[in-house]
Amino acid sequence: MHYAGRPKSDASANVPARVDMRSDTVTRPSDGMRAAMAAADVGDDVYGDDPTVNALQDKAAKLLGKEAALFVSSGTQSNLCAMLAHCQRGEEILTGHDYHVFIDEAGGASVLGGIMFAPIQTAADGGLDPDAISRTVKPDDEHCAISRLLTLENSWHGQAIPLERINAAARRAHDHGLIVHMDGARLMNACVKLGVSAAEMLAEVDSVSLCLSKGLGTPAGSVLAGSKAMIRKAHRARKLLGGGMRQIGVLAAAGVYALDHNIERLADDHANALRLAEALQGIPGLQVAPDEVQTNMVFVGVPEGSSAPLQTHLLERGIYINRDEPTIRLVTHLDCGADEVDLFVAEMKGFFA
Ligand SMILES: Cc1ncc(COP(=O)(O)O)c(C=O)c1O
Repeated sequence: MHYAGRPKSDASANVPARVDMRSDTVTRPSDGMRAAMAAADVGDDVYGDDPTVNALQDKAAKLLGKEAALFVSSGTQSNLCAMLAHCQRGEEILTGHDYHVFIDEAGGASVLGGIMFAPIQTAADGGLDPDAISRTVKPDDEHCAISRLLTLENSWHGQAIPLERINAAARRAHDHGLIVHMDGARLMNACVKLGVSAAEMLAEVDSVSLCLSKGLGTPAGSVLAGSKAMIRKAHRARKLLGGGMRQIGVLAAAGVYALDHNIERLADDHANALRLAEALQGIPGLQVAPDEVQTNMVFVGVPEGSSAPLQTHLLERGIYINRDEPTIRLVTHLDCGADEVDLFVAEMKGFFA
C-alpha cells in the first residue's frame, strides 16, 4: 500500500533544489503562465462574475465532454465536492483499496458526509474488475449501507488504465444503478499515453476531477466536471467546505494557460521517465523495470536501509526525493527534464558506487 504520509525533505540541509523528483506538484509557474495570470480579467467568483474562472470552467467542461465544470482549490476538495454531491449520509462509495480517495484524503467523505467507503481489491493494472464491483455492491437490505457511487482513478500510480477497463467498470456500476466518478488527478497523462481524448475516456463516467497543479503545472486548482445538476450540488458542497473564493481569475488564468499549452507536452515527461528508468537499470543494487514505465512515474526498489542515507546524500547536492522504502517513487515534470534526469542519475551512480 502506498500512503502519502512520507517524511518531508530535511530543510536543514538548506540547499536549493537543482532537481526535485518528489512529485509533479512541485512545478513553478512558467514565465508564460505568470504573464497570463498577471493579465487576467477578474471579478468576484462567489457572485459568478469572474470572467476568467467562467472561461476556465467552460473550457474544462468541453475538454472533459461534460455539461458543466467547477473550479476548486485542490484535487481533494474536488473529489470531496463530487462525493458530497452524489451521496447522502448512510450511503457508500465503492473504490479501489489503494485509490487516493480512500487512503490519502483524510476520509473526508466519511468525516464530513457520513458516507462509508467499500474498498475493492485493485487489480494489478490499477483497474477494478467488474465482477469484484458486483460482489461489493450491497443488497437492498436494511443491514447494509446503500451502495451509491463507484470512484475510479486514472492514471493510477503512473499506470495509464486502458479505456476498455474504465468502460467495463463503469458499465457494470451503472448496471447496478451506481453513479460513477473518476479521480482524474493525472487523467491527461493517461490520455496522452493512450492516445485517447479525455471526453472519450470519460464517455461512461458521470463526473471527473482533473488536477491543474500536477503535470499541467499551475500553482493551484482542480476542475470538477459533470452534469449541470451535479455541478449545482457540487457548488453548494464547495461553499460548505469554505471553498468559495473571490478574484481567483488570477489562478484560473494559469489553468486556462495549462489546458492550452501543457497537455501535449506531457509526452516529454513520459519520455524522460523512461530515460530515467533505463539509466537507473544499470546501477547495481537498484530494481527498476523500464518496460513498466507508462507515464511520468518511475518506481525504484532500493537496498534495505539505504533510503535515508540516500536522501541525505542527494539533499546535500540539491536533489530532492521522498524517503520511501523499499520502493522510491520518482516523478518527472515540467521542471524536471532530460538534463535533470541525467544529473540525478550521475549522483545516484556516485552514491551506489
Ligand atoms: C490520484 C490523486 N488524486 C487526488 C489527489 C489530491 O490532490 P490535491 O493534493 O490537490 O488535494 C492527488 C494528489 O496527489 C492524487 O495523486
